[in-house]
Amino acid sequence: MMPQFAIWQFFHLIALFYWIGGLVFLGFYLLPRWTRQEHRAESWLLLQQAIQAFSLGGIFAALLLLLSGYAMVMSIGGFARLGPAVWIMVVLGTIAALGAFHLNFAPMKRLRRALNGQDWAGAAKALASYGRFARFLAAIALILTFVGVLGVYL
Ligand code: HEM
Repeated sequence: MMPQFAIWQFFHLIALFYWIGGLVFLGFYLLPRWTRQEHRAESWLLLQQAIQAFSLGGIFAALLLLLSGYAMVMSIGGFARLGPAVWIMVVLGTIAALGAFHLNFAPMKRLRRALNGQDWAGAAKALASYGRFARFLAAIALILTFVGVLGVYL
């Protein structure tokens, strides 16, 4: 029978590449280039809808990360059995997962409000803060991946 741990690990990794992949694309590739030229209102709206949909997907991915993470903790014997590396994963990982909620609410709300008022400079600022936070979460994910894969051997 397949060990329960491996099944949760599978979901942990699925949620990770889905979410972090999107954050990397937005934070490092799309958003830094978007504001280099002017855009029509319809283009802004389309971008906003795409980021909105991705951010919602990010919340589901973060919930799956939390669920699979805590399920792995239980399947390796609970919190009393965790080594320091897995503790870092649990604490920092939970904070990072909450970042999905921050992204979906704070910068998205500012972006929506700016676009409703045709405030293009405000929209560019909201996008920049989305991009900055996306890069920050991607950097934390890099640390967590190191901890998750190699940390258990340290
Ligand atoms: C952005 C957030 C997170 C990232 C980037 C991340 C990344 C990873 C990676 C790459 C692994 C290694 C998987 C493998 O063994 O192949 C892992 C394992 C694990 N993660 Fe996370 N994780 C995150 C959030 C969480 C959360 C919220 C928890 C909650 C408890 C958690 C608990 C665990 C546990 C228990 C393991 C197994 C450790 C072991 O092998 O003993 N993670 N994580």
